[in-house]
Amino acid sequence: MHLHSTLLALAATTSLTVAVLMPHIPDHFGVFISHNYNNGTKVIESLSDPGLVPIVTHDPTVHTRRAKFGRAAKSALHEKRRTDCWGHRLDSSGVDRSIKGLAEAVGSGKEIRTGPDTTVLMGIIVEAVITYYCISRPNSVGNLDSNDAWHAHNQMNSNCGQYMSGWFGWPGSVEIVGRAREGTEICNAGGPF
Ligand SMILES: *[C@@H]1O[C@H](CO)[C@@H](O)[C@H](O)[C@H]1NC(C)=O
Repeated sequence: MHLHSTLLALAATTSLTVAVLMPHIPDHFGVFISHNYNNGTKVIESLSDPGLVPIVTHDPTVHTRRAKFGRAAKSALHEKRRTDCWGHRLDSSGVDRSIKGLAEAVGSGKEIRTGPDTTVLMGIIVEAVITYYCISRPNSVGNLDSNDAWHAHNQMNSNCGQYMSGWFGWPGSVEIVGRAREGTEICNAGGPF
């Protein structure tokens, strides 16, 4: 009995630890768009090179984690707190180059839509820093242009510190722009971050 429950506990811990948050994205993907389905499937396309074959991954644990996450996030974060800081120092050249890459890729505007069972993340990873735009609610539409990206960057700089992780969201909008260490769990259903 004792062994049995130990194994169960171990299994539970392991499934959390091995959960695939965001697969490694090869550098040549540049700016990418990840369609994250509620069933744990992610389809990741390169925006910089649309000719590349999309990466498709599946994380079977995602459903449980999302449900928990959604509950916790609901209380305070929607609408009111529109910047949040995670307190991680990021690689400075990674921050500088990833925001520049995202801003250049969206230029005068890039429209993003979520479906009935997806969140969408558009981002770029440089020096283990991901700078991203996310819509974490279903059936939504947003548009990011380079001014928006730089505005969010400046807000994070003044509220969180120049090379610190965090996110910024527009009041009343489903859209956020954030930056984090590569591998951080971001842009989940029920977000916003
Ligand atoms: C998840 O849902 C998407 C969209 O319906 C589908 O294409 C994909 O095959 C599903 N993945 C799994 C593992 O069922």
